This record gives sequence, structure tokens and C-alpha cells, in this order.
Amino acid sequence: MRRLVVLLLTVLLPHENSCSAAAASGGGIQCSRRCGSTTVPYPFGFSPGCPIPLSCDASISTPILGRSGTTIHSFNSTTSTIVVSLPPSCTRSVPDAKKALSGANYGVSSHTGLFLRGGCREINASGAECSVPASVMSRLLRTAQCVGNDTSVTCFASSPMNSTAVAAPAPAPAPALKSAYPNQFLRWEKVEAFRCGDALTAALYGDTDTVLSLEFGVAELGWWVNGTCAGSGELCAANATCTDVDTPSGKKGHRCACQAGMNGDGFLAGDGCHYL
Ligand SMILES: *[C@@H]1O[C@H](CO)[C@@H](O)[C@H](O)[C@H]1NC(C)=O
Ligand SMILES: *[C@@H]1O[C@H](CO)[C@@H](O)[C@H](O)[C@H]1NC(C)=O
Ligand SMILES: *[C@@H]1O[C@H](CO)[C@@H](O)[C@H](O)[C@H]1NC(C)=O
Ligand SMILES: *[C@@H]1O[C@H](CO)[C@@H](O)[C@H](O)[C@H]1NC(C)=O
Ligand SMILES: *[C@@H]1O[C@H](CO)[C@@H](O)[C@H](O)[C@H]1NC(C)=O
Ligand SMILES: *[C@@H]1O[C@H](CO)[C@@H](O)[C@H](O)[C@H]1NC(C)=O
Repeated sequence: MRRLVVLLLTVLLPHENSCSAAAASGGGIQCSRRCGSTTVPYPFGFSPGCPIPLSCDASISTPILGRSGTTIHSFNSTTSTIVVSLPPSCTRSVPDAKKALSGANYGVSSHTGLFLRGGCREINASGAECSVPASVMSRLLRTAQCVGNDTSVTCFASSPMNSTAVAAPAPAPAPALKSAYPNQFLRWEKVEAFRCGDALTAALYGDTDTVLSLEFGVAELGWWVNGTCAGSGELCAANATCTDVDTPSGKKGHRCACQAGMNGDGFLAGDGCHYL
């Protein structure tokens, strides 16, 4: 693996001398990607050399986002997304939810719906609201052991979501998402406009051609590495494509992903791209 990285660096940077490439590869800037028995894909990792640093709960081999304590369920290098947990809670404010799900290099994807409660303002959100059957919502409120009279829940998603959703009482398998992944993030300013007291939970919805599925208690985050493809410090691997990302802060970022049919994280400093 290390030999492959050195080789590719040498090919791509013909003017670098190979000694410095070898030193960089073997030196202190490496990104350690192991947490117990789990290995995460580049650019994630657990050492300062990783572009998107995580913490590790080694006792359960679980990667954790930043200092928020948000646990990561899964990584998808094809869509450049991760799925994290946001269990139902009646005491999580909207700013707390934003803090738990946003970071320097990741933000909530537009495939995620947020369930808000507590004195929400009625606003005309033009297709931004989503409805979910009342029975599902009352179960959710019971699960979260919410007290009080305000049982109405406002659902917010960046794209319209229909109530025909198949609501899974227990976490269902992650639904498939639409192919070419656009650089779309949840619009927090729209969420904040409702002025709700709490962010009860989130759900990830998959919109295949035939069925809309919904998984509660999780959020999907999109990630990026700093800088554009053109001016990038991070190098995509051979057979990877680089995509510029409009990040929620307005800055540009980019991500590398392998061409269709190939596996890997798409980064030269990671596992690159390979056939199974
Ligand atoms: C990327 O940029 C953000 C600010 O936009 C900064 O907080 C972060 O540390 C940068 N990451 C790296 C790896 O330089
Ligand atoms: C929302 O929009 C509808 C028409 O689209 C309008 O009749 C209604 O008054 C609006 N409500 C508010 C609170 O702006
Ligand atoms: C809940 O509703 C009951 C009756 O409908 C009312 O007496 C009580 O004050 C309400 N509690 C709160 C916290 O609003
Ligand atoms: C939602 O349902 C309406 C009819 O009930 C339909 O016209 C619309 O296309 C549906 N939207 C989505 C995103 O499935
Ligand atoms: C990543 O997402 C794509 C598109 O939804 C899906 O086809 C693929 O199975 C996912 N990969 C993993 C490892 O979950
Ligand atoms: C890239 O993919 C092509 C086939 O699509 C293959 O011939 C080539 O060897 C691959 N390059 C690398 C560096 O894997």
C-alpha cells in the first residue's frame, strides 16, 4: 500500500525527487485511520495528519465527530457522505442540533429531514415542509419521553418529502439515494425561521423511483476537503474524479470519488481506487 502511494506520487510529480516523496509518505504527516477494529476511509482519521479529524471510542470501535459526541454509523465513499446518529430527544435545541451535525468539513445533507417541536411558528416554507403520519409522530414523541401538551411536530427538509413514507419503527437499512450526488446541504436559516424550541430528531430519506423510505434517528452529512479541485492541496487518486463543493459557509471545497465500478476512497493519500 505504502509502496503504491510512493509510486503514484512519483508518477504525478515528476519534478519532485523521490526521496522527499518517500519521506512524506513515511513521515509524520500520515493519517491514522484505525479505531479499534474499524478502519475509516480517507480523508477521515484519528491523527492530526487527517484532513477531517475524528475521535475514537476504541472500546466499541466507533468513530465520533469532533467534540460533539455524535457517533458515526457508516461511510459512503461513492456519495461522499456519512450517516450519523441523532437519537430522539426532547431537550435538544436547534442550535445544539446544528452544533452536533456541522463542522469545519461537513454539513447536513439535503436528504435529511429535521423534526422540530415546541412552539414552532407557522411559516410558508414553499415546499420545504414535509409531513409524516400522526401515528408515527406520537410514537416518536413517546420514544423520546416528551412531556407537555405541545405534541405537534414540524418536519423540515430541503426537498419536499411525502407522508407516504415507510416509517421504520426500528432503524431500517439505509435507503438508496439518487445517483449523481449534488452539492446540497440543509438550509439552517430556513430551519431557524420556524423558531422551534427543540430539534426532536432527524430522519434520512431515500427516494428511489418506486418507494420513499425513511429512517429515523439518523442524519446524513456531506463532507468536503478544503480548497477547489483546481487549486487543491489534496490529490485525487488515479481513476478518481474531483468535484468542487459549495459548502454551507459559502467557501469552496472539493471531494474525490472513484469512477463508477471502482472501489476505494479516491484519494492518493488514502486507498485510491481499485477494482474489487
Ligand atoms: C479547512 O478550513 C476550515 C475553515 O474553513 C478550517 O477550520 C479547517 O481547519 C481547515 N481544515 C484543514 C485540514 O486545513
Ligand atoms: C401562505 O401562502 C398562502 C398562499 O400560498 C397564503 O394564502 C397564506 O396567507 C400564506 N400564509 C402566511 C402566514 O403567510
Ligand atoms: C396542558 O393542558 C391542560 C389542559 O388541556 C392544562 O390544564 C395545562 O395547563 C397544560 N399544560 C401546559 C404546560 O401547557
Ligand atoms: C407527493 O405526493 C403528491 C400527491 O400526493 C405527488 O403529486 C408528488 O409528486 C409527491 N412528491 C414526491 C416527492 O414524491
Ligand atoms: C453508497 O451509496 C450508493 C448510492 O446510494 C449505494 O448504491 C451504495 O451501495 C452505497 N455504498 C455503501 C458502501 O453503502
Ligand atoms: C484506471 O482505469 C483504467 C481502466 O478504466 C485502467 O486501465 C488503469 O490501469 C487504471 N489506472 C490505475 C492507476 O488504476
